[in-house]
Amino acid sequence: MSIPESEYLSPVWKDGLFNGRVVFVTGGAGTICSAQTRAMVRLGADACIIGRNVEKTEKAAKDIATARKGARVIGIGGCDVRSYESLASAAGRCVKELGGIDFVIAGAAGNFVVPLSRMSPNAFKAVIDIDVIGTFNTVKATIPHLVESAKRNPLPSKDGLTGGRIIAISATFHYTGMPLQGHVAAAKAGVDSLMASVALEYGPFGVTSNVIAPGPIANTEGMSRLSGVGDDVMGKRIPSGRLGSVRDISDATIYLFSDSGSYVNGHVLVVDGALWRMGGSVGVGTEIGVQYPDFLFTGQIAKGLAGQKGSSSKL
Ligand code: HXC
Repeated sequence: MSIPESEYLSPVWKDGLFNGRVVFVTGGAGTICSAQTRAMVRLGADACIIGRNVEKTEKAAKDIATARKGARVIGIGGCDVRSYESLASAAGRCVKELGGIDFVIAGAAGNFVVPLSRMSPNAFKAVIDIDVIGTFNTVKATIPHLVESAKRNPLPSKDGLTGGRIIAISATFHYTGMPLQGHVAAAKAGVDSLMASVALEYGPFGVTSNVIAPGPIANTEGMSRLSGVGDDVMGKRIPSGRLGSVRDISDATIYLFSDSGSYVNGHVLVVDGALWRMGGSVGVGTEIGVQYPDFLFTGQIAKGLAGQKGSSSKL
């Protein structure tokens, strides 16, 4: 299903910003990362998206390709970021079929709402593995191609075109700590830290490494997993007065990947309407009548969240 451009890209960017360039995206069939990829494709890039689910990933690739006539978008399913080998093989296929990798979005993530008291060691490890090890594997599998791209695209850019850039998708939970998100907060702290080291080690090779930290973004898998509070109620808790849109994240991506972001390196760009500055728990695991800290005593977190297991037993 083709999506109107106004939903994934602001009307402020120049056509052809990413002509002849290739973006490699883990989690590229997900709601946020598919919008980022779609925006890149609309502005000239070809793309390779990676995911665990074969059908979902291939379908998303076909759909993203409709954003620009002649766009080439490969969907590689059956690829888990926890396996370095499967990522290296996907990166190899991307280079072979599309000619290189100029941009990377490390977007694959795992999330479910659970208190520490009910979190098994394997549950904690699963999220650390997907987010931290997965981001490391993504960096490891693609960085030689990004260094090559940075060589082909020295700065200052003569034609406005760029390459050799990587973004990881993080969160803001670890700035304060977050009930029911102890695993995710720890993982995202690791992601931010890793990406800073990438900036320091690969900046001298012309690569930029940054992080985008989205706040609550409407109509995403993340929101369906995190909060049972309606969008209107949640929006009122956010200083900017609304939930974010996937377009807000796409626009941040275009800023960082295009020539406008050339001197931004080792940065965490928070796109959350200032929500994290309100501090701490603002809606994770809650719904009307289910609030912090009550859910820690009753064991009853919001009903109907995606990815939930088990009961409301006392913690
Ligand atoms: C408690 C849970 C659980 C739950 C899983 N586990 N869900 N524990 N409550 N709701 C435990 C399991 O019991 C198991 O531990 C361990 O986690 C691993 O679970 P598996 O199902 O075996 O793992 P796997 O198949 O690899 O699935 C990974 C997953 C799953 C992360 C657990 O939820 C998943 O595939 N999610 C899809 C991707 C995703 O979450 N995307 C959301 C991105 S949104 P035991 O001990 O039983 O073996 C996002 C937003 C970030 O990231 C925040 C932005 C603001």
